[in-house]
Amino acid sequence: MKTASSKAQRQRSAPLETMLMFLLSNLWQLALLATVAAVVLPRDGPVNEVLHLQPLEASSPKKIKPKVFIFSMYDDEGDVWYSIPEFDLLARNITVPGLSPLFPDAHCTLDGSVCQLTTGEGEINAATTIISLVLSPVFDLTKTYFLIAGVAGINPKVATIGSVTFARYAVQVSLQNEFDARDKPAHWPTGYFPQGSHAPEEYPPKLYGTEVFEVNDALRNLAVGFARRAELNDTAAAQAYRAHYAGSSVFAAGAAAPSVVECDTATSDNFWSGTFLGEAFENTTMLFTNGTGVYCSTQQEDNATLEALMRGHIIGLVDFSRIIIMRSGSDFDRPYPGQSAAENLFADDIGYGPSVLNLHLGGVRVVQGIIDGWEETFECGVKPTNYIGDILGSIGGEPDFGPGNIFAKQVKTSGVRRRSV
Ligand SMILES: *[C@@H]1O[C@H](CO)[C@@H](O)[C@H](O)[C@H]1NC(C)=O
Ligand SMILES: *[C@@H]1O[C@H](CO)[C@@H](O)[C@H](O)[C@H]1NC(C)=O
Ligand SMILES: *[C@@H]1O[C@H](CO)[C@@H](O)[C@H](O)[C@H]1NC(C)=O
Ligand SMILES: *[C@@H]1O[C@H](CO)[C@@H](O)[C@H](O)[C@H]1NC(C)=O
Ligand SMILES: *[C@@H]1O[C@H](CO)[C@@H](O)[C@H](O)[C@H]1NC(C)=O
Repeated sequence: MKTASSKAQRQRSAPLETMLMFLLSNLWQLALLATVAAVVLPRDGPVNEVLHLQPLEASSPKKIKPKVFIFSMYDDEGDVWYSIPEFDLLARNITVPGLSPLFPDAHCTLDGSVCQLTTGEGEINAATTIISLVLSPVFDLTKTYFLIAGVAGINPKVATIGSVTFARYAVQVSLQNEFDARDKPAHWPTGYFPQGSHAPEEYPPKLYGTEVFEVNDALRNLAVGFARRAELNDTAAAQAYRAHYAGSSVFAAGAAAPSVVECDTATSDNFWSGTFLGEAFENTTMLFTNGTGVYCSTQQEDNATLEALMRGHIIGLVDFSRIIIMRSGSDFDRPYPGQSAAENLFADDIGYGPSVLNLHLGGVRVVQGIIDGWEETFECGVKPTNYIGDILGSIGGEPDFGPGNIFAKQVKTSGVRRRSV
C-alpha cells in the first residue's frame, strides 16, 4: 500500500509544470471570479465581507487560513454549530461565489481558525459548492483539515441511531445500472448491477472514477480518539425505538447504545429504505473496495465532496490527506423484524434529534483536538499509512481496490504523462 508521499516526490521533480499549473488555475479563477463577482457582488447585507480579487499566491497574509473547515449539508446540520460555547462561527460571514443560493456564505471565527459552510443537499450541490470553495482566492486551504459532519442513514448490523461514525471509504453505490425489481432476472438478488457488468456481483469494468474514495486512516484514528472523549446525546424515545432491533441477533449493534464507530459510508442521491437495498449496497461496498469496506452509513454527498477536494489536491490548493468523514446515525436504512420497508422510511425520525446534537458533541472534540495539537501534530500533517485518493490513482499511489493506478500504467505503456501532479 502506497501513501501520499509518492505524490510529494512527483511534485518536487516537476517544479516547472507545477508552477504552470498554478498560473493556469490562477487565470482560470480570476476569469471565473470576475464573471461571478459581477453578478453576485455586491450583495445586500452589510455584514458580509467583500472579496478582493487578486492574483492567487501560494500564501498571502490577507488570506484566511482555517485550521479546520466544517462541511454541513443543510440548515439543521449547520445551525448546530452556530450557538455553541466553544467558538463563534458567526463572527465572520464571507460570501463565496459559487456556493448554493440557499447557503451563500462561509462562516468563520474572528481569527479564521475554524470555518463552516453548508453545501446544499445531494451530490450536485456538494460537488459545486466544494469546488467553488477550493478555487476561492479568499482562503488558503493548503493546511486545512476538512470535517464532513452530517447525519446519515445507519446500518443496524454495524451501528445505531445516535452513533457517530468515521469512514475510511466512501462508496458511490448508486453509480450502477438498474432494473426495477419486477423486471430483473429472477435469480438476481437485486436490480442494481455495476456499470458495464452483466450481473450484480461482477466487478465494474467501466469506471467513472468516483466509485470509491479512501481517506487518511491514521487521521481517522486520531479523530475517533478525540470524538470518544464526548458524552453523546441519547433519548428515552431513541432507546425504545432501538429496542425493536434486539429481535434479530445480526442487529445487535442497532439495538445497543450509541457510540463512536469506525465504518464506511455509501453515497447515493437516491434515498433508499429496505432490507434488499441495504444488503445490495453492503455487497456493492464490499465489491467496489475489493473486500475491505464495511458499509454502515448512507448519505447523498460525500463522494461528490471528495471528488471536488481531490481535484483541489491535484492543483495544489488542498491536501487530500486532511479529510475526516464523520456521519451520525439519524434513521435506520432497513426495517426491524416485522416492520416493512415503507414503515421504516415513514417512521418518525426518533434518532434525528440526538444525531444532529452528536454532530456537535462528537465533532467539536475533533476540532479542539486538531487546534490543541496544531504545532505538535497537525500543522505538518498526519502521514497516511494507507492508500488515499480515488479508484483510478489520480493523486498518485496504488489503490488497493479497482484496476490499480491507471495513470501509472499509461506512463509505462505510452511514455506520455497524463498528469502533472
Ligand atoms: C453573520 O450572519 C448571522 C446570520 O446568519 C448573523 O446573526 C450574524 O450577526 C452575522 N455576523 C456578523 C459579524 O455580521
Ligand atoms: C465514494 O467514496 C467512497 C470513499 O470515501 C468509496 O469507498 C466509494 O466507493 C465511492 N463510491 C462511489 C460510487 O464513487
Ligand atoms: C439529549 O438532548 C435532549 C434535547 O436537548 C435532552 O432533553 C436530553 O436530556 C439529552 N440527553 C442526554 C443524555 O444528554
Ligand atoms: C449479497 O451478497 C450475498 C453473498 O454473495 C448474497 O447471498 C446476497 O443475495 C446478496 N444480496 C443482495 C441483496 O444483493
Ligand atoms: C479488485 O478486484 C477486481 C475484481 O476482482 C480485480 O480486477 C482488481 O485487480 C482488484 N484490485 C486490486 C487493487 O486488487
